[in-house]
Amino acid sequence: MRIPKGGRTWGEISKGLRGFEKASFMDPTGREKQLQHLYALSGTPELRAIVDGAFQIFLDSNASYDTEHGVLEMEREVVSMLADLWGLSSGVGHMTSCGTESNILSLYAARKLSKRKGGSVVLPSTAHMSLFKGCEYLGLKPIVVPVDDHFRAVPGAMERAVTKDTVAIAATAGNWAWAQIDPIEAIGKIAEEHDVYFHVDAAYAGFLCSFLKGSEFDIPPFDLSVKGVSSMSSDPHKNGYAPFPAGAIVFRDKELQRAAAYSTPKFLGYEYETPGLIGTRPGYSIAATWAIMNYLGVEGYTKLSRKAMRMTMEFIKGVSDIPGLRPSTIPKLNFATACSLEIDMDRVKATLKRKGWLFYDQIGPRKTRENAIVAAILPDREEVYPRFLDDLRAASK
Ligand SMILES: Cc1ncc(COP(=O)(O)O)c(C=O)c1O
Repeated sequence: MRIPKGGRTWGEISKGLRGFEKASFMDPTGREKQLQHLYALSGTPELRAIVDGAFQIFLDSNASYDTEHGVLEMEREVVSMLADLWGLSSGVGHMTSCGTESNILSLYAARKLSKRKGGSVVLPSTAHMSLFKGCEYLGLKPIVVPVDDHFRAVPGAMERAVTKDTVAIAATAGNWAWAQIDPIEAIGKIAEEHDVYFHVDAAYAGFLCSFLKGSEFDIPPFDLSVKGVSSMSSDPHKNGYAPFPAGAIVFRDKELQRAAAYSTPKFLGYEYETPGLIGTRPGYSIAATWAIMNYLGVEGYTKLSRKAMRMTMEFIKGVSDIPGLRPSTIPKLNFATACSLEIDMDRVKATLKRKGWLFYDQIGPRKTRENAIVAAILPDREEVYPRFLDDLRAASK
């Protein structure tokens, strides 16, 4: 393929874009059978308008320039709001491009602080793949600790895995695909006792679960209010309702944040410090996140988060009502599973895929909880789930 010689008109281009949109399942028809879209913004015209506005103003801003005072101030405000939400009066940190970048960065900071070139990272077997990716990039050895029957990390086993060369412990608040929160307080104590860096990956839970406090879905502390936690990350582009690419990481103190930054070697002849993995940083992502957080406020987030959880519980009930089916776990956040100990789920999945349904396929041995359909439950998609449950019931006969 070649770049078109004379360029095309906007009319032609927009027609092309609409075609690609259809093929991406982002248009209203595709979305009717879409259960694997965990990024909550897309169907909400009201939020889209806010993001559009922020994008227009900050489209050509690069947050890596220290002259971008306005964007950097918005970033400080986003981080400060998140630190406050997660139990710190003065957290420091910055926005990243995604949960993957935040996780890798935490390992980079931990390794730098340990002053080792290598070392190990202790993490539960349900940790996100990006932490394994980080270990691979940074020459660290992942020590994978099996989880319990509820798909949660086992603090005693994690502690036994810590050795002299351990540079970090990582755990998850909202693990994939089981939607469970690891026992962060108990692991935090272990990190303190062994004086090891502890990162909490709360990519999904950091927003949603913070706004469930005091509700019927409340969960034990999982954030920076736990003393042993060194850093915590969560993605505005997930349950924060911001557009991609928007991740965020908050460090307990400045020293930890400094360890995550990288500055130019002197001989290159210019001064340039990047807080994360990427160089050019889109200012519009920061602006859009700032705009959404200010637009929704605590009340907006609380309403959406609780609605998402109520819908998740309804979905779980719907699954349990189907003969032979059950959820793999009772989720602590807004994704839910359907599995079976009697029926061949591979057959059920294939039938649903033929009908056009898109869902996450958790691959595991047949007739175990590990072989499951995973559905993202978004508060603006109420009409989708009952239709899916009807088809799920029919497919499992
Ligand atoms: C627990 C957890 N951490 C990190 C990530 C990575 O997020 P991203 O895809 O934004 O890099 C995910 C994504 O699914 C996740 O589930």
